[in-house]
Amino acid sequence: MRGKFITFEGGEGSGKSTHAEALAKRLTARGIRVVRTREPGGSPGAEIVRHILLSGMAKPLGAEAETILFAAARADHVHATIAPALAAGQWVICDRFIDSTRVYQGALGKVDIKLIRGLERVAVGDMMPDLTVLLDVPADIGMARAKLRRGVEAADRFEAEAFEFHEAVRKAFLILAEREPDRFVVVDGRPALDVVTERTVQAVERRLSTALLALGALTGGEDR
Ligand code: TYD
Repeated sequence: MRGKFITFEGGEGSGKSTHAEALAKRLTARGIRVVRTREPGGSPGAEIVRHILLSGMAKPLGAEAETILFAAARADHVHATIAPALAAGQWVICDRFIDSTRVYQGALGKVDIKLIRGLERVAVGDMMPDLTVLLDVPADIGMARAKLRRGVEAADRFEAEAFEFHEAVRKAFLILAEREPDRFVVVDGRPALDVVTERTVQAVERRLSTALLALGALTGGEDR
């Protein structure tokens, strides 16, 4: 049986990687084979493109060129990492995916949605996420967390944008979630870590119960 593909989305400092990791641990404890990955990157080819994008080197080329680079990285990531894992029955948990492009390059960068959808067809094909967890956090909280985590390091190309940008990112993600309620689940990212993890696990149990049952992995939470 093909594995399940779960993506985490949200703004800077929303806790995507922490909660993706926590979910991976919980599923692994139930005997599910999990592959953790992230974008941009997640395969050797895509990691090279990640460096070009996050260093800001591609910014002068314009938002469309950046979009094409994100898609090129994604195509390699899907081909080299995601598709083989799903085919082998592993579950893939990915930090950011197509919705980040729709939000950062589409809604914010004003890149034509037709170009974005066309690139999705090429890069992703039918490897669409089964479930997308949107961690929703107000921009001020997310930016403060991202700053704490970064310490003395410089902000990357996208972290360096202004407060209004991050608030617009948040709103754009919420609009996407509203448009595709079957794929998305919105989890409030403000409460304590354990609470958010618990709510995320419960959402996965609800949405992917058939697959979990088939694997004998629907435990009702005793694996804490
Ligand atoms: P990263 O260092 O992975 O940060 P985060 O912890 O916030 O995920 O940086 C990823 C950055 O790339 C983030 O600011 C959003 C941006 N991005 C896009 O603009 N488009 C995309 O398609 C993806 C995957 C990421």
